[in-house]
Amino acid sequence: MADLASLGDLRGKRVLVRSDLNVPLDGTTITDDGRIRASVPTISELSGAGARVIVCAHLGRPKGAPEEKYSLRPVVGRLSELLGRDVVFATDTVGESAQAAVAAMADGDVVLLENLRFNAGETAKTDEDRAEFADALAGLADAYVSDGFGVVHRKQASVYDVATRLPSAMGGLVRTEVEVLRRLTEDPERPYAVVLGGAKVADKLAVIDNLMGTADRLLIGGGMLFTFLAAQGHEIGKSLFDADSVDACKGYLERAERDGVEIVLPVDVVVGKEFSADTETDVVAADAIPADAMGLDIGPESARLYAERLADTRTVFWNGPMGAFEMEPFAAGTKAVAQALVDATAGGALTVVGGGDSAAAVRQLGFTDDQFGHISTGGGASLEYLEGKELPGIAILTKEH
Ligand code: 3PG
Ligand code: MG
Repeated sequence: MADLASLGDLRGKRVLVRSDLNVPLDGTTITDDGRIRASVPTISELSGAGARVIVCAHLGRPKGAPEEKYSLRPVVGRLSELLGRDVVFATDTVGESAQAAVAAMADGDVVLLENLRFNAGETAKTDEDRAEFADALAGLADAYVSDGFGVVHRKQASVYDVATRLPSAMGGLVRTEVEVLRRLTEDPERPYAVVLGGAKVADKLAVIDNLMGTADRLLIGGGMLFTFLAAQGHEIGKSLFDADSVDACKGYLERAERDGVEIVLPVDVVVGKEFSADTETDVVAADAIPADAMGLDIGPESARLYAERLADTRTVFWNGPMGAFEMEPFAAGTKAVAQALVDATAGGALTVVGGGDSAAAVRQLGFTDDQFGHISTGGGASLEYLEGKELPGIAILTKEH
């Protein structure tokens, strides 16, 4: 796949870079800058080569019109700091501000455009409805670099259509991410375990389906585990439950039994009366959740079990927290799994943490990136890759057009 070198001499060229700068914000404070840090090497390389670097990105899910709380302005300072040079912020995406900022660029300069999703054309469903915006974006630049791995599963103007309009290349971040994920899908070293958590089981059904054929063990945690417990016939009280997914979960449990895939579910659960940090908590057996309680983390016995089922692995992929880790009483399960991955990494296993939320979780819990094999900047993107789906943002870079 074409890399930056394929774009030829970059000096003086205007290069549009799609990055994923979708960082969590508390007001205007960045609570985890992992995606900004991951975006810096490509921007830096282009700037160093004398390109005029026009960075475009989204933040959150605004509905096709400007909304202050989704502005990318809070990102400018941190990006400048990490790049070690001033970044000029355009207050629109393809309008007067963007055009003036681009016209004023000198070689090596970096401009950040305002949130792409302030334009309805960015996320519109059809190629026709994205065309005008894609034309305008492409009109700002001479070449395009796709480096926002977290959005390559989106068929959107800045991810997909722009690549059909400009000479295009894959950035180093996307390349690294794809190389790591390829190691998980093509002949992974065994035992290969996948830890899945998070709230919504429906989001994970397709990946579970695909992993049944490749992984040796699936460890289930987070809100999604209760639908599995219900599928086993257990009472789950007020825990998260997805009635539409119970049959699918039942099917996976049966298939796992038949195919010799190990599905690991908790043996105990930390419950609370309410979804709150100061609710009354208790540890109960996984098949004895009281009717008036909700499960909010895997229990201590389960944490030991999960660590044990990860200890001898050679390959691990992890997406989604084990519990409501942002509240201290329900953080232990996620912490135990993170520690188990750290230990596996130290023992030589390839460990991959996928997803903005999971990455932010491990950092919030005090772990550092270098304790893991790879921390992916893409949640949905890495899951869709593991589902075996074609990612539009990758596919378009390899097509002739
Ligand atoms: C993410 O946060 O997963 C990526 O930035 C993609 O965002 P999206 O799910 O809103 O498309
Ligand atoms: Mg997301």
